[in-house]
Amino acid sequence: MSHSAQRLGVVAESAPGETRVAATPATVPQLVSLGYEVIVESGAGRRSGYTDEEYGRAGARIAGHDETWAADIVLKVNAPTADEIAALRDGATLVSLIGPAANPALVDELARRPITVLAMDAVPRVSRAQALDVLSSMANIAGYRAVIEAAHAFGRLFTGQVTAAGKVPPAKVLVAGAGVAGLAAIATATSLGAIVRATDPRPEVAEQVRSLGAEYLDVGVAQESGADGYARETTQDYDRRAAEMYAEQAAEVDIVITTALIPGRPAPRLLTAEHVALMRPGSVIVDMAAAQGGNVEGTVPGEAVVTGNGVTIIGYTDLAGRLPAQASQLFGTNVANLMKLLTPGKDGRLVLDFDDMVQRAMTVVRDGEKTWPPPPVPVSATPAATPAARPAAAPAPARAADPSPAGRPQSPPGRRRHLITAAAAAALFLLTAFSPNALIEHVTVFVLSIVIGYYVIGNVHHALHTPLMSITNAISGIIVVGALLQIGRGDAVVAVLSFAAILLASINIVGGFAVTRRMLGMFTRS
Ligand code: NAI
Repeated sequence: MSHSAQRLGVVAESAPGETRVAATPATVPQLVSLGYEVIVESGAGRRSGYTDEEYGRAGARIAGHDETWAADIVLKVNAPTADEIAALRDGATLVSLIGPAANPALVDELARRPITVLAMDAVPRVSRAQALDVLSSMANIAGYRAVIEAAHAFGRLFTGQVTAAGKVPPAKVLVAGAGVAGLAAIATATSLGAIVRATDPRPEVAEQVRSLGAEYLDVGVAQESGADGYARETTQDYDRRAAEMYAEQAAEVDIVITTALIPGRPAPRLLTAEHVALMRPGSVIVDMAAAQGGNVEGTVPGEAVVTGNGVTIIGYTDLAGRLPAQASQLFGTNVANLMKLLTPGKDGRLVLDFDDMVQRAMTVVRDGEKTWPPPPVPVSATPAATPAARPAAAPAPARAADPSPAGRPQSPPGRRRHLITAAAAAALFLLTAFSPNALIEHVTVFVLSIVIGYYVIGNVHHALHTPLMSITNAISGIIVVGALLQIGRGDAVVAVLSFAAILLASINIVGGFAVTRRMLGMFTRS
Protein backbone atom coordinates (compact mmCIF):
# COMPACT_ATOMS: atom_id res chain seq x y z
CA MET A 1 0.00 0.00 0.00
CA SER A 2 1.42 3.42 -0.88
CA HIS A 3 2.20 5.79 1.99
CA SER A 4 -0.36 8.25 0.65
CA ALA A 5 -3.26 5.84 1.28
CA GLN A 6 -5.86 7.27 3.62
CA ARG A 7 -6.99 5.42 6.70
CA LEU A 8 -10.61 4.42 6.79
CA GLY A 9 -12.15 3.71 10.22
CA VAL A 10 -15.26 1.63 10.83
CA VAL A 11 -16.47 2.63 14.30
CA ALA A 12 -18.76 0.86 16.77
CA GLU A 13 -22.23 2.38 17.17
CA SER A 14 -22.89 4.07 20.50
CA ALA A 15 -26.68 4.49 20.22
CA PRO A 16 -28.41 2.11 22.62
CA GLY A 17 -30.23 -0.63 20.78
CA GLU A 18 -28.38 -0.02 17.52
CA THR A 19 -27.39 -3.37 16.07
CA ARG A 20 -25.89 -2.32 12.73
CA VAL A 21 -22.37 -1.56 11.58
CA ALA A 22 -21.25 0.43 8.51
CA ALA A 23 -18.98 -2.27 7.01
CA THR A 24 -19.03 -6.07 7.10
CA PRO A 25 -16.41 -8.73 6.40
CA ALA A 26 -17.94 -8.88 2.89
CA THR A 27 -17.56 -5.15 2.19
CA VAL A 28 -14.13 -4.65 3.78
CA PRO A 29 -12.30 -6.27 0.80
CA GLN A 30 -14.08 -3.78 -1.51
CA LEU A 31 -12.78 -0.88 0.60
CA VAL A 32 -9.30 -2.40 0.68
CA SER A 33 -9.31 -2.82 -3.11
CA LEU A 34 -9.92 0.93 -3.41
CA GLY A 35 -6.50 1.38 -1.85
CA TYR A 36 -7.56 2.33 1.69
CA GLU A 37 -6.04 1.09 4.90
CA VAL A 38 -9.13 -0.21 6.70
CA ILE A 39 -9.32 -0.31 10.49
CA VAL A 40 -12.32 -1.64 12.40
CA GLU A 41 -13.06 -0.77 16.01
CA SER A 42 -12.93 -3.89 18.14
CA GLY A 43 -16.44 -5.29 18.64
CA ALA A 44 -18.01 -3.02 16.01
CA GLY A 45 -19.73 -5.94 14.26
CA ARG A 46 -20.65 -7.92 17.36
CA ARG A 47 -24.36 -7.10 17.41
CA SER A 48 -24.61 -7.93 13.71
CA GLY A 49 -22.92 -11.26 14.28
CA TYR A 50 -19.57 -10.33 12.69
CA THR A 51 -16.47 -11.07 14.77
CA ASP A 52 -13.18 -9.17 14.91
CA GLU A 53 -11.47 -12.28 13.48
CA GLU A 54 -13.73 -12.21 10.41
CA TYR A 55 -12.91 -8.54 9.80
CA GLY A 56 -9.23 -9.40 10.25
CA ARG A 57 -9.42 -12.19 7.68
CA ALA A 58 -11.21 -9.81 5.30
CA GLY A 59 -8.21 -7.48 5.31
CA ALA A 60 -8.97 -5.00 8.11
CA ARG A 61 -6.87 -4.22 11.14
CA ILE A 62 -8.71 -4.25 14.48
CA ALA A 63 -8.09 -1.12 16.54
CA GLY A 64 -9.31 0.64 19.65
CA HIS A 65 -11.97 3.36 19.90
CA ASP A 66 -9.67 6.40 19.80
CA GLU A 67 -7.54 5.17 16.92
CA THR A 68 -10.58 4.32 14.78
CA TRP A 69 -12.18 7.70 15.44
CA ALA A 70 -8.90 9.40 14.46
CA ALA A 71 -9.00 7.88 10.94
CA ASP A 72 -9.03 10.09 7.83
CA ILE A 73 -12.44 8.77 6.88
CA VAL A 74 -14.91 7.54 9.48
CA LEU A 75 -17.74 5.23 8.44
CA LYS A 76 -20.69 4.88 10.76
CA VAL A 77 -24.43 4.19 10.76
CA ASN A 78 -26.03 6.74 13.09
CA ALA A 79 -25.38 10.45 13.35
CA PRO A 80 -22.49 11.18 15.74
CA THR A 81 -22.88 12.44 19.31
CA ALA A 82 -21.17 15.64 20.48
CA ASP A 83 -18.27 13.59 21.94
CA GLU A 84 -17.90 11.70 18.71
CA ILE A 85 -17.82 14.91 16.67
CA ALA A 86 -15.03 16.14 18.96
CA ALA A 87 -13.13 12.86 18.44
CA LEU A 88 -12.84 13.40 14.67
CA ARG A 89 -9.45 14.66 13.50
CA ASP A 90 -9.13 17.96 11.61
CA GLY A 91 -9.68 17.38 7.91
CA ALA A 92 -11.52 14.11 8.47
CA THR A 93 -14.48 12.96 6.38
CA LEU A 94 -17.47 11.47 8.16
CA VAL A 95 -19.94 9.24 6.32
CA SER A 96 -23.14 8.36 8.22
CA LEU A 97 -26.85 8.98 8.53
CA ILE A 98 -27.38 12.64 9.49
CA GLY A 99 -31.01 13.53 8.83
CA PRO A 100 -29.97 17.08 7.88
CA ALA A 101 -33.51 18.28 7.19
CA ALA A 102 -34.76 17.13 10.59
CA ASN A 103 -31.59 18.05 12.53
CA PRO A 104 -30.42 21.52 11.49
CA ALA A 105 -28.72 21.98 14.88
CA LEU A 106 -26.58 18.90 14.28
CA VAL A 107 -25.51 20.23 10.86
CA ASP A 108 -24.48 23.54 12.48
CA GLU A 109 -22.54 21.67 15.14
CA LEU A 110 -20.73 19.58 12.51
CA ALA A 111 -19.89 22.73 10.55
CA ARG A 112 -18.04 24.10 13.58
CA ARG A 113 -15.33 21.48 12.97
CA PRO A 114 -12.91 21.63 9.99
CA ILE A 115 -14.34 18.42 8.61
CA THR A 116 -16.36 17.12 5.66
CA VAL A 117 -19.64 15.27 6.26
CA LEU A 118 -21.54 13.13 3.79
CA ALA A 119 -25.10 12.21 4.76
CA MET A 120 -26.03 8.69 3.64
CA ASP A 121 -29.70 9.65 3.99
CA ALA A 122 -29.40 12.59 1.57
CA VAL A 123 -28.83 10.45 -1.51
CA PRO A 124 -31.08 11.83 -4.26
CA ARG A 125 -33.59 9.33 -5.65
CA VAL A 126 -32.13 9.05 -9.14
CA SER A 127 -31.35 5.77 -10.87
CA ARG A 128 -27.60 6.41 -10.88
CA ALA A 129 -27.56 6.80 -7.11
CA GLN A 130 -29.65 3.73 -6.31
CA ALA A 131 -26.55 1.73 -5.38
CA LEU A 132 -25.90 4.22 -2.54
CA ASP A 133 -29.45 4.62 -1.34
CA VAL A 134 -29.52 3.39 2.27
CA LEU A 135 -33.03 4.73 2.86
CA SER A 136 -34.30 2.36 0.19
CA SER A 137 -32.26 -0.60 1.34
CA MET A 138 -33.30 -0.07 4.96
CA ALA A 139 -36.96 0.51 4.03
CA ASN A 140 -36.90 -2.69 2.02
CA ILE A 141 -35.68 -4.73 5.00
CA ALA A 142 -38.03 -2.87 7.35
CA GLY A 143 -41.04 -3.61 5.14
CA TYR A 144 -40.19 -7.30 5.25
CA ARG A 145 -39.67 -7.23 8.99
CA ALA A 146 -42.95 -5.35 9.54
CA VAL A 147 -44.82 -8.33 8.13
CA ILE A 148 -42.78 -10.74 10.25
CA GLU A 149 -43.59 -8.67 13.37
CA ALA A 150 -47.27 -8.66 12.39
CA ALA A 151 -47.23 -12.42 11.80
CA HIS A 152 -45.57 -12.90 15.17
CA ALA A 153 -48.22 -10.88 17.01
CA PHE A 154 -51.13 -12.33 15.00
CA GLY A 155 -52.56 -15.47 16.56
CA ARG A 156 -53.34 -17.18 13.27
CA LEU A 157 -51.84 -18.47 10.06
CA PHE A 158 -51.32 -16.11 7.13
CA THR A 159 -51.95 -18.76 4.54
CA GLY A 160 -55.31 -20.42 3.96
CA GLN A 161 -55.38 -24.18 4.49
CA VAL A 162 -57.77 -27.07 4.33
CA THR A 163 -56.76 -29.45 7.09
CA ALA A 164 -58.31 -32.52 8.70
CA ALA A 165 -59.09 -30.26 11.66
CA GLY A 166 -61.00 -27.78 9.53
CA LYS A 167 -60.62 -24.99 7.07
CA VAL A 168 -58.32 -22.06 7.82
CA PRO A 169 -59.11 -18.83 5.97
CA PRO A 170 -56.14 -16.81 4.66
CA ALA A 171 -55.27 -13.63 6.57
CA LYS A 172 -56.23 -10.34 4.90
CA VAL A 173 -53.53 -7.70 4.87
CA LEU A 174 -53.87 -4.03 3.95
CA VAL A 175 -50.71 -2.10 3.09
CA ALA A 176 -51.13 1.68 3.09
CA GLY A 177 -48.41 3.45 1.11
CA ALA A 178 -46.71 1.43 -1.63
CA GLY A 179 -43.24 2.98 -1.67
CA VAL A 180 -40.13 0.94 -1.02
CA ALA A 181 -41.20 -0.33 2.41
CA GLY A 182 -44.79 -0.91 1.29
CA LEU A 183 -43.81 -2.94 -1.76
CA ALA A 184 -41.48 -5.08 0.37
CA ALA A 185 -44.33 -5.63 2.85
CA ILE A 186 -46.69 -6.60 0.02
CA ALA A 187 -44.20 -9.10 -1.41
CA THR A 188 -43.58 -10.63 2.01
CA ALA A 189 -47.26 -10.88 2.96
CA THR A 190 -48.24 -12.46 -0.38
CA SER A 191 -45.37 -14.93 -0.10
CA LEU A 192 -46.72 -16.00 3.30
CA GLY A 193 -50.02 -16.73 1.60
CA ALA A 194 -52.13 -13.78 2.78
CA ILE A 195 -54.67 -11.93 0.67
CA VAL A 196 -53.06 -8.52 0.24
CA ARG A 197 -54.50 -5.16 -0.78
CA ALA A 198 -52.59 -1.93 -1.03
CA THR A 199 -53.35 1.72 -1.60
CA ASP A 200 -51.23 4.74 -2.48
CA PRO A 201 -52.10 8.18 -3.85
CA ARG A 202 -49.53 7.74 -6.65
CA PRO A 203 -51.48 5.93 -9.38
CA GLU A 204 -48.27 4.77 -11.07
CA VAL A 205 -47.68 2.20 -8.33
CA ALA A 206 -50.90 0.28 -9.15
CA GLU A 207 -49.09 -1.85 -11.71
CA GLN A 208 -46.25 -2.65 -9.27
CA VAL A 209 -48.77 -3.60 -6.59
CA ARG A 210 -50.57 -5.96 -8.97
CA SER A 211 -47.36 -7.50 -10.24
CA LEU A 212 -46.62 -8.55 -6.65
CA GLY A 213 -49.92 -10.39 -6.50
CA ALA A 214 -51.87 -7.83 -4.48
CA GLU A 215 -55.01 -5.87 -5.25
CA TYR A 216 -54.66 -2.10 -5.74
CA LEU A 217 -57.31 -0.07 -3.93
CA ASP A 218 -57.90 3.16 -5.79
CA VAL A 219 -59.22 5.98 -3.64
CA GLY A 220 -60.58 7.45 -6.85
CA VAL A 221 -59.34 11.02 -6.44
CA ALA A 222 -56.40 11.81 -8.69
CA GLN A 223 -53.20 12.98 -6.98
CA GLU A 224 -49.96 14.02 -8.58
CA SER A 225 -46.41 13.20 -7.56
CA GLY A 226 -43.95 16.03 -7.08
CA ALA A 227 -41.16 16.68 -9.58
CA ASP A 228 -38.79 14.76 -7.28
CA GLY A 229 -40.77 11.52 -7.70
CA TYR A 230 -42.14 11.64 -4.16
CA ALA A 231 -45.79 11.96 -3.20
CA ARG A 232 -47.18 15.42 -2.42
CA GLU A 233 -49.57 16.10 0.38
CA THR A 234 -52.97 14.62 -0.46
CA THR A 235 -56.01 16.83 -1.01
CA GLN A 236 -58.89 17.11 1.46
CA ASP A 237 -61.18 15.38 -0.98
CA TYR A 238 -58.71 12.50 -1.23
CA ASP A 239 -58.37 12.21 2.56
CA ARG A 240 -62.15 12.14 3.00
CA ARG A 241 -62.60 9.32 0.50
CA ALA A 242 -59.56 7.48 1.85
CA ALA A 243 -61.04 7.64 5.37
CA GLU A 244 -64.23 5.98 4.07
CA MET A 245 -62.15 3.30 2.44
CA TYR A 246 -60.10 2.69 5.60
CA ALA A 247 -63.33 2.36 7.61
CA GLU A 248 -64.54 -0.28 5.18
CA GLN A 249 -61.19 -2.11 5.15
CA ALA A 250 -60.65 -1.91 8.92
CA ALA A 251 -63.78 -3.98 9.48
CA GLU A 252 -62.53 -6.60 7.03
CA VAL A 253 -58.77 -7.04 7.30
CA ASP A 254 -56.68 -8.75 9.98
CA ILE A 255 -53.42 -6.88 9.48
CA VAL A 256 -52.72 -3.26 8.50
CA ILE A 257 -49.22 -2.07 7.63
CA THR A 258 -48.88 1.68 7.17
CA THR A 259 -45.85 3.21 5.45
CA ALA A 260 -47.22 6.57 4.25
CA LEU A 261 -44.61 9.27 4.07
CA ILE A 262 -44.27 12.65 2.43
CA PRO A 263 -40.66 13.81 2.71
CA GLY A 264 -40.13 16.77 5.01
CA ARG A 265 -43.58 16.54 6.59
CA PRO A 266 -45.02 14.81 9.62
CA ALA A 267 -46.50 11.42 8.72
CA PRO A 268 -50.03 11.71 7.32
CA ARG A 269 -52.70 10.35 9.67
CA LEU A 270 -54.43 7.49 7.88
CA LEU A 271 -56.21 5.51 10.60
CA THR A 272 -58.05 7.27 13.42
CA ALA A 273 -59.00 5.70 16.75
CA GLU A 274 -62.47 5.08 15.25
CA HIS A 275 -60.91 3.07 12.43
CA VAL A 276 -58.88 1.03 14.91
CA ALA A 277 -62.02 0.42 16.98
CA LEU A 278 -63.65 -1.15 13.92
CA MET A 279 -60.99 -3.86 13.72
CA ARG A 280 -61.55 -7.33 15.14
CA PRO A 281 -59.80 -8.35 18.39
CA GLY A 282 -56.52 -10.09 17.58
CA SER A 283 -55.88 -7.86 14.57
CA VAL A 284 -52.46 -6.26 14.22
CA ILE A 285 -51.34 -2.86 12.92
CA VAL A 286 -47.70 -2.09 12.17
CA ASP A 287 -47.20 1.67 11.90
CA MET A 288 -43.90 2.07 10.10
CA ALA A 289 -44.11 5.84 10.27
CA ALA A 290 -44.06 5.78 14.10
CA ALA A 291 -40.83 7.80 14.22
CA GLN A 292 -42.37 10.58 12.09
CA GLY A 293 -45.47 10.90 14.29
CA GLY A 294 -47.33 7.82 13.08
CA ASN A 295 -49.93 7.06 10.42
CA VAL A 296 -52.21 5.59 13.08
CA GLU A 297 -53.82 7.23 16.11
CA GLY A 298 -52.59 5.49 19.26
CA THR A 299 -49.18 4.42 17.98
CA VAL A 300 -46.42 4.63 20.58
CA PRO A 301 -43.00 4.97 18.90
CA GLY A 302 -40.74 2.05 19.75
CA GLU A 303 -43.47 0.03 21.41
CA ALA A 304 -46.25 -2.47 20.82
CA VAL A 305 -49.50 -1.49 22.53
CA VAL A 306 -52.82 -3.32 22.73
CA THR A 307 -56.00 -1.24 22.39
CA GLY A 308 -59.18 -1.67 24.40
CA ASN A 309 -60.69 -3.79 21.63
CA GLY A 310 -57.69 -6.13 21.47
CA VAL A 311 -55.85 -4.69 18.46
CA THR A 312 -52.05 -4.70 18.71
CA ILE A 313 -50.42 -1.54 17.34
CA ILE A 314 -46.70 -2.01 16.69
CA GLY A 315 -44.68 1.20 16.46
CA TYR A 316 -41.13 -0.17 16.36
CA THR A 317 -38.72 2.32 14.88
CA ASP A 318 -35.82 -0.12 14.49
CA LEU A 319 -37.39 -2.61 12.10
CA ALA A 320 -34.35 -2.79 9.78
CA GLY A 321 -32.03 -3.21 12.78
CA ARG A 322 -34.10 -6.21 13.85
CA LEU A 323 -32.44 -8.03 10.96
CA PRO A 324 -28.95 -6.79 11.89
CA ALA A 325 -26.75 -8.98 9.70
CA GLN A 326 -28.84 -8.20 6.63
CA ALA A 327 -29.19 -4.51 7.40
CA SER A 328 -25.43 -4.13 7.97
CA GLN A 329 -24.69 -6.02 4.78
CA LEU A 330 -26.87 -3.72 2.65
CA PHE A 331 -25.80 -0.56 4.50
CA GLY A 332 -22.15 -1.61 4.14
CA THR A 333 -22.61 -2.28 0.43
CA ASN A 334 -24.20 1.15 -0.07
CA VAL A 335 -21.26 2.75 1.77
CA ALA A 336 -18.73 0.74 -0.29
CA ASN A 337 -20.48 1.90 -3.47
CA LEU A 338 -20.22 5.49 -2.25
CA MET A 339 -16.51 5.01 -1.58
CA LYS A 340 -16.05 3.69 -5.13
CA LEU A 341 -17.64 6.88 -6.41
CA LEU A 342 -15.40 8.98 -4.16
CA THR A 343 -12.19 7.14 -5.07
CA PRO A 344 -11.89 7.50 -8.86
CA GLY A 345 -8.16 6.71 -8.83
CA LYS A 346 -8.56 3.55 -6.66
CA ASP A 347 -5.50 4.92 -4.89
CA GLY A 348 -6.85 5.22 -1.37
CA ARG A 349 -7.47 8.98 -1.80
CA LEU A 350 -10.94 10.42 -1.38
CA VAL A 351 -11.81 13.03 -4.01
CA LEU A 352 -15.06 14.95 -3.56
CA ASP A 353 -16.46 16.17 -6.87
CA PHE A 354 -19.02 18.96 -6.47
CA ASP A 355 -19.87 18.82 -10.18
CA ASP A 356 -21.37 15.41 -9.52
CA MET A 357 -24.94 16.07 -8.48
CA VAL A 358 -25.08 12.98 -6.25
CA GLN A 359 -21.93 13.88 -4.29
CA ARG A 360 -23.06 17.49 -4.04
CA ALA A 361 -26.49 16.50 -2.69
CA MET A 362 -25.02 14.27 0.02
CA THR A 363 -22.42 16.74 1.29
CA VAL A 364 -23.80 18.68 4.25
CA VAL A 365 -20.46 20.12 5.39
CA ARG A 366 -17.30 20.61 3.29
CA ASP A 367 -14.06 21.54 5.08
CA GLY A 368 -16.02 23.15 7.88
CA GLU A 369 -18.34 25.04 5.58
CA LYS A 370 -22.04 24.23 5.72
CA THR A 371 -23.25 23.11 2.28
CA TRP A 372 -26.77 22.10 3.24
CA PRO A 373 -29.31 22.39 1.69
CA PRO A 374 -27.97 21.53 -1.77
CA PRO A 375 -29.41 23.11 -4.91
CA PRO A 376 -32.56 21.25 -6.01
CA VAL A 377 -31.98 18.08 -8.02
CA PRO A 378 -33.99 17.62 -11.18
CA VAL A 379 -35.29 14.05 -11.14
CA SER A 380 -36.37 12.27 -14.27
CA ALA A 381 -38.04 9.40 -12.42
CA THR A 382 -41.53 10.96 -12.39
CA PRO A 383 -43.77 9.49 -15.05
CA ALA A 384 -45.89 11.77 -17.22
CA ALA A 385 -48.59 13.61 -15.32
CA THR A 386 -51.68 11.49 -14.82
CA PRO A 387 -54.94 12.48 -16.44
CA ALA A 388 -56.94 14.70 -14.13
CA ALA A 389 -59.93 12.42 -13.63
CA ARG A 390 -59.29 8.71 -13.79
CA PRO A 391 -62.27 6.37 -13.74
CA ALA A 392 -62.42 4.49 -10.45
CA ALA A 393 -61.31 0.85 -10.35
CA ALA A 394 -63.80 -1.81 -9.33
CA PRO A 395 -62.58 -2.55 -5.76
CA ALA A 396 -62.79 1.11 -4.69
CA PRO A 397 -65.29 1.82 -1.95
CA ALA A 398 -68.83 2.93 -2.64
CA ARG A 399 -69.01 6.63 -3.38
CA ALA A 400 -72.06 8.81 -2.94
CA ALA A 401 -71.61 11.42 -5.65
CA ASP A 402 -69.18 9.89 -8.09
CA PRO A 403 -68.97 11.83 -11.32
CA SER A 404 -66.97 9.01 -12.98
CA PRO A 405 -68.01 8.02 -16.49
CA ALA A 406 -69.30 4.63 -15.32
CA GLY A 407 -72.70 6.01 -14.37
CA ARG A 408 -73.34 7.95 -17.59
CA PRO A 409 -75.82 6.79 -20.27
CA GLN A 410 -74.44 4.62 -23.01
CA SER A 411 -71.42 6.17 -24.70
CA PRO A 412 -70.78 6.15 -28.48
CA PRO A 413 -68.05 3.44 -28.19
CA GLY A 414 -70.62 1.24 -26.41
CA ARG A 415 -73.11 1.70 -29.25
CA ARG A 416 -70.42 0.91 -31.80
CA ARG A 417 -69.61 -2.30 -29.95
CA HIS A 418 -73.23 -3.41 -30.24
CA LEU A 419 -73.23 -2.69 -33.99
CA ILE A 420 -70.09 -4.80 -34.40
CA THR A 421 -71.64 -7.66 -32.41
CA ALA A 422 -74.80 -7.55 -34.58
CA ALA A 423 -72.72 -7.54 -37.80
CA ALA A 424 -70.68 -10.50 -36.57
CA ALA A 425 -73.88 -12.43 -35.71
CA ALA A 426 -75.26 -11.76 -39.22
CA ALA A 427 -72.00 -12.91 -40.83
CA LEU A 428 -72.05 -16.08 -38.72
CA PHE A 429 -75.63 -16.77 -39.80
CA LEU A 430 -74.74 -16.38 -43.50
CA LEU A 431 -71.68 -18.57 -43.04
CA THR A 432 -73.62 -21.43 -41.42
CA ALA A 433 -76.50 -21.18 -43.87
CA PHE A 434 -74.44 -21.38 -47.06
CA SER A 435 -71.26 -23.32 -46.32
CA PRO A 436 -70.37 -27.03 -46.29
CA ASN A 437 -70.55 -28.97 -43.03
CA ALA A 438 -66.78 -29.45 -42.73
CA LEU A 439 -66.20 -25.70 -42.74
CA ILE A 440 -68.84 -25.15 -40.06
CA GLU A 441 -67.15 -27.77 -37.88
CA HIS A 442 -63.79 -26.07 -38.26
CA VAL A 443 -65.21 -22.64 -37.58
CA THR A 444 -66.96 -23.96 -34.45
CA VAL A 445 -63.72 -25.48 -33.14
CA PHE A 446 -61.89 -22.24 -33.99
CA VAL A 447 -64.42 -20.04 -32.18
CA LEU A 448 -64.52 -22.35 -29.16
CA SER A 449 -60.70 -22.31 -28.93
CA ILE A 450 -60.71 -18.52 -28.98
CA VAL A 451 -63.29 -18.41 -26.17
CA ILE A 452 -61.49 -21.02 -24.06
CA GLY A 453 -58.10 -19.43 -24.75
CA TYR A 454 -59.45 -16.02 -23.73
CA TYR A 455 -60.73 -17.31 -20.40
CA VAL A 456 -57.73 -19.52 -19.63
CA ILE A 457 -55.19 -16.78 -20.34
CA GLY A 458 -57.36 -14.09 -18.75
CA ASN A 459 -57.43 -16.05 -15.49
CA VAL A 460 -53.71 -16.70 -15.31
CA HIS A 461 -51.85 -14.14 -13.21
CA HIS A 462 -50.27 -11.73 -15.64
CA ALA A 463 -46.79 -12.20 -14.18
CA LEU A 464 -47.04 -15.75 -15.56
CA HIS A 465 -48.16 -14.78 -19.05
CA THR A 466 -44.70 -14.86 -20.59
CA PRO A 467 -43.80 -18.41 -19.46
CA LEU A 468 -47.34 -19.58 -20.27
CA MET A 469 -47.25 -18.13 -23.78
CA SER A 470 -43.75 -19.33 -24.51
CA ILE A 471 -44.61 -22.89 -23.52
CA THR A 472 -47.93 -22.88 -25.37
CA ASN A 473 -46.00 -21.74 -28.44
CA ALA A 474 -44.81 -25.33 -28.58
CA ILE A 475 -48.38 -26.25 -29.49
CA SER A 476 -47.67 -24.86 -32.93
CA GLY A 477 -45.70 -28.08 -33.38
CA ILE A 478 -49.05 -29.39 -34.67
CA ILE A 479 -48.72 -26.98 -37.59
CA VAL A 480 -45.32 -28.40 -38.42
CA VAL A 481 -46.79 -31.92 -38.46
CA GLY A 482 -49.67 -30.86 -40.72
CA ALA A 483 -47.36 -28.98 -43.09
CA LEU A 484 -44.94 -31.93 -43.31
CA LEU A 485 -47.84 -34.17 -44.36
CA GLN A 486 -48.84 -31.69 -47.08
CA ILE A 487 -45.47 -30.59 -48.43
CA GLY A 488 -44.82 -33.72 -50.56
CA ARG A 489 -48.12 -33.65 -52.47
CA GLY A 490 -46.51 -32.33 -55.64
CA ASP A 491 -48.57 -29.12 -55.81
CA ALA A 492 -46.23 -26.08 -55.95
CA VAL A 493 -48.63 -23.74 -54.14
CA VAL A 494 -49.20 -26.26 -51.34
CA ALA A 495 -45.46 -26.82 -51.07
CA VAL A 496 -44.73 -23.10 -50.75
CA LEU A 497 -47.49 -22.62 -48.17
CA SER A 498 -46.34 -25.70 -46.21
CA PHE A 499 -42.77 -24.48 -46.25
CA ALA A 500 -43.83 -21.07 -44.96
CA ALA A 501 -45.95 -22.73 -42.26
CA ILE A 502 -43.04 -24.94 -41.13
CA LEU A 503 -40.71 -21.96 -41.05
CA LEU A 504 -43.05 -19.69 -39.05
CA ALA A 505 -44.14 -22.42 -36.63
CA SER A 506 -40.50 -23.40 -36.01
CA ILE A 507 -39.58 -19.78 -35.25
CA ASN A 508 -42.52 -19.67 -32.86
CA ILE A 509 -41.46 -22.85 -31.04
CA VAL A 510 -37.76 -22.02 -30.83
CA GLY A 511 -38.56 -18.41 -29.87
CA GLY A 512 -40.89 -19.63 -27.11
CA PHE A 513 -38.22 -21.82 -25.58
CA ALA A 514 -35.61 -19.08 -25.93
CA VAL A 515 -37.85 -16.66 -23.99
CA THR A 516 -38.49 -19.29 -21.31
CA ARG A 517 -34.77 -19.91 -21.03
CA ARG A 518 -34.10 -16.21 -20.59
CA MET A 519 -36.78 -15.95 -17.93
CA LEU A 520 -35.39 -18.95 -16.04
CA GLY A 521 -31.94 -17.39 -16.41
CA MET A 522 -33.13 -14.39 -14.39
CA PHE A 523 -33.62 -16.70 -11.40
CA THR A 524 -30.30 -18.52 -11.51
CA ARG A 525 -27.23 -17.11 -9.86
CA SER A 526 -24.41 -16.25 -12.18
P1 NAI B 1 -41.39 6.01 0.28
O1 NAI B 1 -41.33 7.47 0.09
O2 NAI B 1 -40.72 5.12 -0.70
O3 NAI B 1 -42.88 5.53 0.40
C1 NAI B 1 -43.86 6.25 1.08
C2 NAI B 1 -45.15 6.02 0.33
O4 NAI B 1 -46.24 6.62 1.04
C3 NAI B 1 -45.14 6.65 -1.05
O5 NAI B 1 -45.41 5.66 -2.02
C4 NAI B 1 -46.24 7.68 -0.97
O6 NAI B 1 -46.91 7.83 -2.20
C5 NAI B 1 -47.13 7.10 0.08
N1 NAI B 1 -48.06 8.04 0.66
C6 NAI B 1 -47.91 9.37 0.87
N2 NAI B 1 -49.03 9.89 1.39
C7 NAI B 1 -49.91 8.87 1.52
C8 NAI B 1 -51.26 8.77 1.98
N3 NAI B 1 -51.92 9.83 2.46
N4 NAI B 1 -51.86 7.57 1.95
C9 NAI B 1 -51.20 6.47 1.50
N5 NAI B 1 -49.94 6.50 1.04
C10 NAI B 1 -49.30 7.69 1.06
O7 NAI B 1 -40.83 5.72 1.73
P2 NAI B 1 -40.25 4.36 2.27
O8 NAI B 1 -38.79 4.37 2.09
O9 NAI B 1 -41.04 3.22 1.76
O10 NAI B 1 -40.52 4.50 3.82
C11 NAI B 1 -41.84 4.39 4.33
C12 NAI B 1 -41.90 4.68 5.81
O11 NAI B 1 -41.25 3.67 6.54
C13 NAI B 1 -41.22 5.98 6.20
O12 NAI B 1 -42.04 6.63 7.15
C14 NAI B 1 -39.92 5.53 6.79
O13 NAI B 1 -39.39 6.45 7.70
C15 NAI B 1 -40.41 4.29 7.47
N6 NAI B 1 -39.37 3.37 7.86
C16 NAI B 1 -39.53 2.84 9.10
C17 NAI B 1 -38.61 1.99 9.60
C18 NAI B 1 -38.87 1.45 10.97
O14 NAI B 1 -38.01 0.83 11.54
N7 NAI B 1 -40.07 1.64 11.51
C19 NAI B 1 -37.42 1.60 8.85
C20 NAI B 1 -37.36 2.15 7.51
C21 NAI B 1 -38.32 3.01 7.04
